[in-house]
Amino acid sequence: MSKPIKQNRMDRRSFIGKTSIALAGIAALKSQAFAMAAESVGLAELYKDDFYIGAAFGGRILMNNDEEMLGIIKREFNSISSENDFKWASIQPSDDEWRFEVQDKFVKFGLDNNMHMLGHCLVWHSQVPRSLFRDADGNQISKEGLLKKLDYHVLTLVDKYKGKMNAWDVVNEAIEERGWRNSNWVRIIGKEFMERAFNLAHEADPNAHLIYNDYNMDKKGKRDQVVEMVKDFKKRGIPIHGIGLQGHVGLDYPDLREFEASIKAFADEGMKVHITELDVTVLPYDWGRTAEISTNREYAASLNPYTEGLPKDVDKKLADRYVELFKIFLKYRDSMERVTFWGVSDDQSWKNNFPMRGRTDYPLLFDREHKPKSCYDAIAALKK
Ligand code: XIL
Repeated sequence: MSKPIKQNRMDRRSFIGKTSIALAGIAALKSQAFAMAAESVGLAELYKDDFYIGAAFGGRILMNNDEEMLGIIKREFNSISSENDFKWASIQPSDDEWRFEVQDKFVKFGLDNNMHMLGHCLVWHSQVPRSLFRDADGNQISKEGLLKKLDYHVLTLVDKYKGKMNAWDVVNEAIEERGWRNSNWVRIIGKEFMERAFNLAHEADPNAHLIYNDYNMDKKGKRDQVVEMVKDFKKRGIPIHGIGLQGHVGLDYPDLREFEASIKAFADEGMKVHITELDVTVLPYDWGRTAEISTNREYAASLNPYTEGLPKDVDKKLADRYVELFKIFLKYRDSMERVTFWGVSDDQSWKNNFPMRGRTDYPLLFDREHKPKSCYDAIAALKK
């Protein structure tokens, strides 16, 4: 795996120490801070011998050419995922319509900046167009009809970005704790939709790294089901190279020993391990945890306690939690290919609206002013 070369090393802490000697005028300090921040070392550089450090971001950042956010992404990350734009409903909103504008910008940004790139995701039960599971008359589509659409979608997309997109989440969220998810894919095609997608993706780009991605991967049932699928795929020569653990976690869940057990189980099967959508919610909940995006809770102010800012003790818990997670990732660095955050700054996180709309959450590394938080410093400090 060749990792992109990043900017010159420079210690953020020593920079902060130097600028705090407040003898120079404010203007001089400001311009010095600007110049030095621009060269300061990012997380990707700190972790370059361990694994890729990635971020997902929304297409708006590219469409608006948001230089501030793009600057942070270039400095801190060496792998990128698009938060929504490669999902079926975004990229192929109907059978004969493709949209590539923002997607092409994403790939160009990745190429221009020597980024490792993820296509998220080829086959999923969510964020698909209504017409996908219908035939031309509006009836449920036949197995043959859906196979045709699947083939066309996967081949077109993987071929278009062949040699550019390094990896694909080929199938997202198809396995549950007690068996396969009873999605339209399984109901109409059967379990073989999954291997078909992997085979097609491999056919279209034999060099692409192919991933199965899911949430709640710490759960034993899910771990066992995924391991069984991997063993079966390996035995039958179906190309699968990596397992993605989404990593939408909280301060007190999951039990990190279970999360680690899954990382180990997948690594033991020879899979590269990807943490694909890391964020740590600090908000209270009174529901069972899930990342199933159709979940929607009615707003309750009691479950939105930090609208005025994050209390120091919770901020500390968040940093500690991130450190615990990163210690595990580092322990498995030989199999760990990548750790991707599901967003860059708290203001843009999907967690503000999931599974309850309109809350103020603090799950990411950068705050609402786009400044690095204590959890950022804690993760960086592990490598200094
Ligand atoms: C989320 C996006 O972050 C939101 O913007 C969108 O409204 C819903 O989907 N698991 C996944 C991601 O695999 O694609 C989801 O992303 C979060 C859960």
